[in-house]
Amino acid sequence: MVYLDRGTSIDDCPSYINSFCHKLKTLEFDSILIGGLGLGILAHWVDTNTSCSKIDVIENENEIITWVSESNHLSSDINIIEGDVFDCNITSSYDLILMDLWWGNGEDNYFVEEQNLISKYSSNLNESGSLYFPINMKLLNLEAI
Ligand SMILES: C[S@@+](CC[C@H](N)C(=O)[O-])C[C@H]1O[C@@H](n2cnc3c(N)ncnc32)[C@H](O)[C@@H]1O
Repeated sequence: MVYLDRGTSIDDCPSYINSFCHKLKTLEFDSILIGGLGLGILAHWVDTNTSCSKIDVIENENEIITWVSESNHLSSDINIIEGDVFDCNITSSYDLILMDLWWGNGEDNYFVEEQNLISKYSSNLNESGSLYFPINMKLLNLEAI
C-alpha cells in the first residue's frame, strides 16, 4: 500500500492482477503498451512471465513514478512514460495495448473513456494487435473495432 500526498492510496493487490493475467498467457505479443503504472505489478508480471521484448507504461501521477523509481523493484527493461493516456503522443506500434486505469468503482465516465481510448490507440496497433481493457475483460482486435 502506498499513500499519496493528495490523500489517496494505491493498493494493487496481486490477487487482482492474477485475476486477469491468465488471459495474457493465452496471447502472443512481443510489445505491449500499458496505460496506468500503479505499483507496477502488471508490468512486472509481463516482464517476468512472458518473452515480450518491449514494455512501455504510461502514468500521469508523478508521485507514483517517483515512488516506483525509488523503490527500484522494476527491471530497467520497463520503460515508464510520464503522461496522460488521453492526450499523450505515442508514435510506436504494439502487439498489445492494455489499459488499466480504473479502480472498478463504477466510474461514471468509464464507457466514454473506453471509446476515446479505442479511437486514439487503434492506429498504434500492429497488424493482428489487440486492445485489452481488463476492467471488463474485453479483448478487441482491429476487426472488432
Ligand atoms: C488500477 S491502477 C494500475 C495498476 C497497475 N496496472 C499495476 O499493475 O500495478 C491505475 C493507475 O492508472 C493511473 N492513471 C489513471 N488515469 C490515468 C491517465 N489518464 N493517464 C495515465 N495514467 C493514469 C493511476 O494513477 C494509477 O497509477
